[in-house]
Amino acid sequence: MITRRQAIKTAVLTTAAIATLRHLPGIPDLSAATVDVPPTGPFTLPPLGYDYDALEPFIDDETMHLHHDKHHAAYVANLNKAVAGHPNLEKKSVEELLRNLDAVPEAIRTAVRNQGGGHYNHSLFWKTLSKNEGGQPKGELAKAMDRSFGGYAKFQESFTKAGTSVFGSGWAWLSLALGKDRVIEKELIIETTPNQDSPIMKGHVPLLGMDVWEHAYYLKYQNRRPEYIAAFYNVINWDYVTERFLKHSAFIDDRDSLTLYPKLDESGRGPGM
Ligand SMILES: [Fe+2]
Repeated sequence: MITRRQAIKTAVLTTAAIATLRHLPGIPDLSAATVDVPPTGPFTLPPLGYDYDALEPFIDDETMHLHHDKHHAAYVANLNKAVAGHPNLEKKSVEELLRNLDAVPEAIRTAVRNQGGGHYNHSLFWKTLSKNEGGQPKGELAKAMDRSFGGYAKFQESFTKAGTSVFGSGWAWLSLALGKDRVIEKELIIETTPNQDSPIMKGHVPLLGMDVWEHAYYLKYQNRRPEYIAAFYNVINWDYVTERFLKHSAFIDDRDSLTLYPKLDESGRGPGM
């Protein structure tokens, strides 16, 4: 068994050896390099769920590696850092945190908003992607799109405009929201959010998000965001988006009573992702 004294001695010697190596000619100084430390939780990086090259040629393998393994991983690691030492926050889901940011202490609210938003948005993003061979929404979602936008082509036009109009970094979304009169009904909307803000912060249900941060497309498309957006329509997993639409619109239908609505509004909770 190693005694505490031996452990301290080993640590001191190791630190001294590293310090010496750093200053030897020909040995690179790695002291400032980013070290990949697996997140310790409570939040974890979900797997991509398919191969990194599965969306080629529309979204390339290298972009997917960086986007998932580095960018999303960093949001998770930084969210874990932000909530560390706050046991009441550590046990909440990221969705719960974002739906009620006011309950997060002010000192870490911005970090939770940005890093938690990044984690939530990307977790949804990976699930909504799949090569669709020119596919379009069908069934109930197609009917809802007809009602809300006047058809798929009109949706595509407005969604493209939304993605193009985001200044700097952000997202374009197809979301489900409550009707204008705050009456419970299904309504599809297109909206945008800056940075890593998410529609769930407004009580909306995001069904599909298009990431228009440069990290999502710059390696392949450089500054040509419109080309990335045009390609994006080939990798929307409409089956998953439809499944999500049915799940969440059914949730609202089940509460077809105005007396229930204030409770829903206060807690801001819907079904999980
Ligand atoms: Fe991203």
